[in-house]
Amino acid sequence: MLERKSTYSIGNVPAGFQSEVERLKAQAVMGWDKEFRNLKWYGLHNGMRVLEVGSGPGFITEQLVNSLPDSQITALEYDKSLLDEAERRIAAPPSSRLELVHGSVYETGLADNTYDFVIARLLFLHLHNPSDAAKEIYRVLKPGGKLVIIDIDDGIFGAVNPDSAVLPSVIRKLAAHQAAKGGNRYVGRSLPLTESGYCDVDMDAVVQHSDLHGIEGFRQQFNINRYTPFYKKGMISEEEYGQISRVSEALNSSPEAYAMMTFLIACGRKPGEI
Ligand SMILES: C[S@@+](CC[C@H](N)C(=O)[O-])C[C@H]1O[C@@H](n2cnc3c(N)ncnc32)[C@H](O)[C@@H]1O
Repeated sequence: MLERKSTYSIGNVPAGFQSEVERLKAQAVMGWDKEFRNLKWYGLHNGMRVLEVGSGPGFITEQLVNSLPDSQITALEYDKSLLDEAERRIAAPPSSRLELVHGSVYETGLADNTYDFVIARLLFLHLHNPSDAAKEIYRVLKPGGKLVIIDIDDGIFGAVNPDSAVLPSVIRKLAAHQAAKGGNRYVGRSLPLTESGYCDVDMDAVVQHSDLHGIEGFRQQFNINRYTPFYKKGMISEEEYGQISRVSEALNSSPEAYAMMTFLIACGRKPGEI
């Protein structure tokens, strides 16, 4: 029996499967050029054997397949419906270069010392036991191979215009809700790389801004429907909900609106040489 031990389940997303896939798409595609630039800077190159864990509907997988034409790519995902979605969409690449694996990051079932590069994007914030996941990834990395974690830390979330005085408290409340379920929206500051045996640990940030990437992806992040369930459960107040609604409306209609989000990109190397 596979163990999910994480807070993310697309079946529980109030907006529904298709709308959540669209949100993940916008979030994956808009900053890919910058993320790929950083991945290459950390040593990712064509021909490497690459594993992506928590690959979801496969938008990053697709970018990897297209950007690394001689690489063997493995995408591992817990949720079978998302793996099927990835398989339906990524029809083009030669199947011999892409392997889709139904598995958990805690127990991948993959062979020891196999991958040159592992990418975990927006997975660690959801994990109940991030260290266990980092150790399992360590096992499947070749000596000298690297793990790159792309994730968030709500302490440096970003900014929106028009600003809202309630945004920090709403963000804190949503983070507390995530923590109560076993996740961590402040995970960026405490990624378990050194403690899991990785060396040469480094960290950088990727900034996404609507002036650079367009505003559509940010509209989805601030879609008021994402906040409605928290309001209905009484977790955010009427005043907070009203203000977030106004931010959401402005992002949809005001020419002066902008948004900026920060993603952390951390890297650790398994000791040894490839
Ligand atoms: C927020 S989504 C990110 C998807 C993708 N990495 C991206 O950046 O678009 C998190 C993904 O991690 C998957 N996930 C959650 N727990 C997992 C586990 N224990 N093992 C593997 N995948 C898991 C979820 O099903 C989901 O697809």
